[in-house]
Amino acid sequence: MTNVELIEKAKKAAENAYAPYSGFKVGAALLTKSGRVYLGCNIESSSFSPTNCAERTAFFKAVSEGEREFEKIAVAGGKNGDFSDYCTPCGVCRQVMSEFCGEDFKVLLGKNGEEEYRELTLGELLPHSFSLKAQ
Ligand code: THU
Repeated sequence: MTNVELIEKAKKAAENAYAPYSGFKVGAALLTKSGRVYLGCNIESSSFSPTNCAERTAFFKAVSEGEREFEKIAVAGGKNGDFSDYCTPCGVCRQVMSEFCGEDFKVLLGKNGEEEYRELTLGELLPHSFSLKAQ
């Protein structure tokens, strides 16, 4: 699975976003080490705090299916399907990623253009993450 293919899947997943309050639609495509792809979208709630981000939807779907090892995730988001800016994962999603992934886990950020993307690592996005393992 190439980076571009995974990003295109994330953009497609954003079409399923349930975002009536923000209008900001996000899609995520999570590739497991076994080669499967789990898609996620953001799902909003009128009481706001139960809102789930696209990245966590993808992770929770995968983990609930027994997956534990992940290669990379692609994320794309914007107002009503316009990916003119990079959509970086929120802090809560970064922490969830760090539960299952190491510092070299790749996070791909997609934009409108097919070849227009950034590749970051979880270590860059969330340095010095909290972990009970260190206690
Ligand atoms: N959102 C995501 O799905 N992922 C992110 O990384 C950042 C924000 C969603 C949550 C909410 O539904 C909307 O974007 C606006 O914050």
